[in-house]
Amino acid sequence: MKLTVTLALLSVAISIVEAQAEINLTVPRVPEQNDYPPNGPQLPASPPPNKTYEYIIVGSGAGGSPLAARLALAGHSVLLIDAGGDYSTLREVEVPSLYIGASERNELSWGYFVRHYDNDTQAKRDKKLTYLTPDGEYYSGVSPPEGSEMLGNYYPRVGGLGGCTEHLALLPITPAKNDWNYIKELTGDPNWDAENMRGYFRKLERNQYLSPIEDVTRAHGFNGWLSTTIEPLALYVPDLKMVSIFLSAATSMGIQTDNILNTTRKLISSFADKVLPSNYTAQIAEKMTKLFEYDINNDSPNRDSTDALSRIPLSVSSPDWKRSSPRNWVYEIATAKNADGSKKYALDIALNTLVTKVTFDTASAAKPRATGIDYLYGESLYRADPRASATGDAGAPGSVTATREVVVAGGTFNTPQILKLSGVGPAAELAALSIPVIKDLPGVGTNLQDRYEVGVSAAASTNFTLFKECTFITTPDDPCYASWAHQPSPNPLAHGPYATNGIAIGLFARSSAAGPDHDLWIGGVPGLFQGYFPGMSRTVVTPRAKNYFTWLVLKAHSRNNAGTVTLKSADPRDTPHIAFHSFGEGGDAARQSDARKDLRAAVEGMRWGIKVFDNVVMLQPGERLERVWPPANVSTDEELEQWVRDEAWGHHASCTCPIGADDDPMAVLDGQFRVRGVDGLRVVDASAFPKIPGTFPVMAIYMLAEKAAEDILSDAK
Ligand SMILES: Cc1cc2nc3c(=O)[nH]c(=O)nc-3n(C[C@H](O)[C@H](O)[C@H](O)COP(=O)(O)OP(=O)(O)OC[C@H]3O[C@@H](n4cnc5c(N)ncnc54)[C@H](O)[C@@H]3O)c2cc1C
Ligand SMILES: *[C@@H]1O[C@H](CO)[C@@H](O)[C@H](O)[C@H]1NC(C)=O
Ligand SMILES: *[C@@H]1O[C@H](CO)[C@@H](O)[C@H](O)[C@H]1NC(C)=O
Ligand SMILES: *[C@@H]1O[C@H](CO)[C@@H](O)[C@H](O)[C@H]1NC(C)=O
Ligand SMILES: *[C@@H]1O[C@H](CO)[C@@H](O)[C@H](O)[C@H]1NC(C)=O
Ligand SMILES: *[C@@H]1O[C@H](CO)[C@@H](O)[C@H](O)[C@H]1NC(C)=O
Ligand SMILES: *[C@@H]1O[C@H](CO)[C@@H](O)[C@H](O)[C@H]1NC(C)=O
Ligand SMILES: *[C@@H]1O[C@H](CO)[C@@H](O)[C@H](O)[C@H]1NC(C)=O
Repeated sequence: MKLTVTLALLSVAISIVEAQAEINLTVPRVPEQNDYPPNGPQLPASPPPNKTYEYIIVGSGAGGSPLAARLALAGHSVLLIDAGGDYSTLREVEVPSLYIGASERNELSWGYFVRHYDNDTQAKRDKKLTYLTPDGEYYSGVSPPEGSEMLGNYYPRVGGLGGCTEHLALLPITPAKNDWNYIKELTGDPNWDAENMRGYFRKLERNQYLSPIEDVTRAHGFNGWLSTTIEPLALYVPDLKMVSIFLSAATSMGIQTDNILNTTRKLISSFADKVLPSNYTAQIAEKMTKLFEYDINNDSPNRDSTDALSRIPLSVSSPDWKRSSPRNWVYEIATAKNADGSKKYALDIALNTLVTKVTFDTASAAKPRATGIDYLYGESLYRADPRASATGDAGAPGSVTATREVVVAGGTFNTPQILKLSGVGPAAELAALSIPVIKDLPGVGTNLQDRYEVGVSAAASTNFTLFKECTFITTPDDPCYASWAHQPSPNPLAHGPYATNGIAIGLFARSSAAGPDHDLWIGGVPGLFQGYFPGMSRTVVTPRAKNYFTWLVLKAHSRNNAGTVTLKSADPRDTPHIAFHSFGEGGDAARQSDARKDLRAAVEGMRWGIKVFDNVVMLQPGERLERVWPPANVSTDEELEQWVRDEAWGHHASCTCPIGADDDPMAVLDGQFRVRGVDGLRVVDASAFPKIPGTFPVMAIYMLAEKAAEDILSDAK
């Protein structure tokens, strides 16, 4: 049954039924595109120059870009390669509130279709499962048109300069200390110690929301390359429905909210149905900010285990309130000039350059040694790109030589694909595709991990006011865009609602099935967030449906590591087969027991969200809030567990080329990111983690990249 139909059957408020047309998972194959010109310069694409480099880095995402920047700053010649182009000054990329749209901009998008389960019967229960219909459209739902081909679950990535840092949701959250100390134990490399890793965070952060004096745990950095600000809660306060929900969340955590409720009630009593004057909202905002002012990136000993409902730091810079990412940093370094106009750093960036393999010298040393890469130059060559054709232009081939090292940083799906295409991976899989084996490394493409995410959504009887005027750039005169772009100001309020990514507060908590650290993050999203399917960027918040609120439940430190990335063919333009085997699919009793713990945690997270909705005290008379997703008839623990099995998705895929112990045959990397069994080759990206870290990965990847830079530079001495 299609989602539209399911919802229509619910006897809910008229507003919800009216809005149901928005929850239509049958969407055009390519979502409608905006055509606003970029806001600033973007790097033009060109193939690699005919030069030799000391280092070649493949992939410019969270791992590759910071590493390239550090090596270039240290005086080395570096070629940073990406298969996509630079689209980093498009509105969807720069504007915090529009980040979901960035995932489906054709120029940036790499859309994969993955399998959560091999078991088709189970897979088909997912209302987001996508098929290609005989008409060439995408259909997502449980009753595909006759003759449709099952594709899998849509998994958005960015193929372009900056990688997924150009569409990520702007949450730069440090991982748990145990995540680092675990790698220290595994490898015996003391530099993985959490204290040392914190040093890299300080080095890379440019904190713009605290003063060094307020930074009581000395957690932060103030001069790095990644700007961080904090959610401007004051933006939300004029929206009393939002305030009502946040206070309900606080109450559920045992936080005393009487005082602020009473103050707010008293203040608004004389302004019923009117907009509150700013001196009234300022008072409420101050109290709200106090309530949630806990800094989740603090460095206190109990930070990882203490439940906290807090404001969310953002990788957004002040005073322009734009996305901050490593793309900006490598762009600056690659374009920096000396006084005489010559290039300041030996960093070149080759775009639209799809690396097809790492080349090796197998003759002159004991171990095969990486010597460079082969590539194809051309736009949209990779078939995850919605503009790629199955048969068309195959690109212009070329190769580049590295005198010191090649570093692969193509991300969790592409790094194992590139290694395998190069002959580094499980021998049998390579042999079956006639790929000459350089090094039999059985761990490549195994150990794939992700979080489990699921949303609990409610509909309010009227629209939220935060995004009231916003058209989400579907019109040329979007007033919210105009106020965001207006003028630089350190005060986010001057930039209006687009200065927030919409995720005002989040709960970091331990479920009853947790280890020592947070295993749940539950974030408040003013929209209808049901996971990823083609076209989803057009359904989360729309000009017509602004009355939804979702508690997004994210199960962290998930236990399943049975996922795989395997080659479908030896054609480097093809995407690999990505199978998660969620919830221990096909595993033994131990895996099933792990799966039950993860399910239990996810259900506890959902129950928290449901409770917050159920107990909400609406500040405005006559307002109602009703849970709509999952539908109210999904209510027992058993039903919720089944819902999680059917509907949970992830978007933090990691761990497919894991660092491991010397005696572990499945270890792909050593503690300094070197690919085992070959020379001159490292992997520096999300695939390097042995276990998925923290609640969000990107800060951990930035820190890891900083460590890799030190490791590489110390070997170069
Ligand atoms: C929608 C979404 C939202 C997210 N939000 C957050 C968030 O708020 N906070 C957070 O912590 N994390 C978030 N993440 C996760 C985070 O973005 C990723 O974990 C992180 O970017 C991974 O970094 P990476 O370097 O491993 O790979 P990527 O960032 O994916 O970079 C890989 C790069 O390699 C290039 N490449 C791949 N193959 C080739 C090839 N053969 N030749 C040349 N180039 C190649 C790609 O084009 C890409 O640019 C989000 C992810 C998604 C999908
Ligand atoms: C869903 O969207 C598709 C494509 O936009 C449209 O053809 C179809 O009529 C819609 N279905 C419903 C039930 O609104
Ligand atoms: C690259 O440079 C080398 C030496 O400078 C030259 O011999 C070769 O022809 C060049 N290749 C291309 C494709 O321009
Ligand atoms: C496949 O999934 C269905 C639905 O969850 C389940 O009933 C069935 O037992 C599964 N089959 C196997 C072989 O595990
Ligand atoms: C808030 O108002 C309620 C009801 O009027 C009252 O019982 C309570 O004491 C007040 N709390 C505070 C902190 O003022
Ligand atoms: C807000 O300002 C108005 C006039 O500027 C004043 O009359 C009112 O008392 C102020 N209210 C509060 C709560 O500060
Ligand atoms: C929200 O606003 C839109 C656009 O003005 C309107 O069509 C819709 O009915 C409103 N929804 C509710 C629930 O008030
Ligand atoms: C809930 O109701 C929908 C629509 O009637 C139905 O399809 C679904 O099976 C029900 N779910 C449960 C768990 O009862």
